[in-house]
Amino acid sequence: MPHIVFIATHFLGNTNRYVKAFTELEGITFSVISCDPSSSIPPSMRPRIAAHYRVADCMDSAQLIEALRAIAGSIGRVDRLAGFLEELQVPMAEARDALGIEGLTTETARRFRDKDRMKEVLRAANVPVAGSALATTRAELEAFVGRVGYPVIVKPRAGLGTRATYRVTNAEELAAIPAPTAGAPLQIEEFVRAREHTCETVTVRGKPVWRSGTRYFPSPLEVLETPWIQYAVLLPREDDDVTWGDFHVTNGAALAALFGDQAHTAAGTALTHMEWFLREDGTHLVNEVGVRPPGVHIMPMMGLTHETDMFADWARLVAFDEFTPKPRTCAAGACFFRGPPGQGTAKRVVEVKGLETAIELCGDALIHMKTPKIGDARATGYEGEGYAIVKHATTDGVKHALRTLIENVQIRYG
Ligand SMILES: Nc1ncnc2c1ncn2[C@@H]1O[C@H](COP(=O)(O)OP(=O)(O)O)[C@@H](O)[C@H]1O
Ligand SMILES: [Mg+2]
Repeated sequence: MPHIVFIATHFLGNTNRYVKAFTELEGITFSVISCDPSSSIPPSMRPRIAAHYRVADCMDSAQLIEALRAIAGSIGRVDRLAGFLEELQVPMAEARDALGIEGLTTETARRFRDKDRMKEVLRAANVPVAGSALATTRAELEAFVGRVGYPVIVKPRAGLGTRATYRVTNAEELAAIPAPTAGAPLQIEEFVRAREHTCETVTVRGKPVWRSGTRYFPSPLEVLETPWIQYAVLLPREDDDVTWGDFHVTNGAALAALFGDQAHTAAGTALTHMEWFLREDGTHLVNEVGVRPPGVHIMPMMGLTHETDMFADWARLVAFDEFTPKPRTCAAGACFFRGPPGQGTAKRVVEVKGLETAIELCGDALIHMKTPKIGDARATGYEGEGYAIVKHATTDGVKHALRTLIENVQIRYG
């Protein structure tokens, strides 16, 4: 029986869906590493967990190595090490390298995690990407602008969630950005005017066996730049649309380049999350790729639209190198609730309006809602204080439901 170790950090909502999937998978031995104590493991899952090891910091590979040694000592050899968080991918790879566990190595993981390295690898493989550079001085930022002109985008080398990501349109804005250093370089890119899409791909030992995709409305950057905008993600009903079909060749080439010589090993068995730009002239560019399951509720949305449980499917993929491609039967979407701007430094939700109307108008399309609650801390990211997941037989039906939710649910901060 393969022995799978999963890094759970904290036993919270989303993580527990992954833990549950492994505990319900027959034919594996399953252990968990977390920052939370074992008393936080939901009781129903405990009987299937062979070993639990608590560490202070799951992102510290030295602590992961110690935990894995202890687990291997008591339970037996570890065959797979898995975790879904973006920040875990490099520490997990370092632990695999140190202990000889099959899967993504540090070198390969860095190709996915380091935005500059990723673009270099993709460019070398003739995969279209935005012009970019890694700047370690202000002069390098300026030199890049001198080559491509404004606007540009400046972001951390290994960012996530659009944190510390800025559109820079003139010299004054560029001067306002804290200067990069050799120790803290900045990724600078030409600004791409385009629609943002995702492509989720299941590969088995490097071979793509299934794809799904979504569209972001609007782009995560616009959401953060414009406080009143609500963020939505749409997974359309049509899985044979030419827009996506055209992109699949690029997606395959990009993954082959990033997995590199590891493609045909256990490392190449993965569910990846690729973000890509579709420009008005029909051309596309790859933005970035996560070698992990997608966030922003794309996992449950893929489950709804393909009548499956993607968490269970991912656990099976990791454990057995197996995936059964499923046809798409409907559309789904997710939207995130955020309050309007102009409320200064207000830190908490003080009023939530329109929930009942939104729920009623959505009808059967509404699958799940986390309602924003009075007293909730004001969120800083694009995911806001609450969200809803919808499903409909048609793409237009999902768009209509998302619009209904976004237009009716109103949050006020105070
Ligand atoms: N070169 C670019 N041109 C236009 N927009 C960009 C560019 N790079 C990033 N963005 C915007 O910033 C967001 C976050 O950048 P991304 O590279 O996806 O980093 P992360 O999601 O890891 O924070 C993207 O979703 C997109 O909206
Ligand atoms: Mg991104």
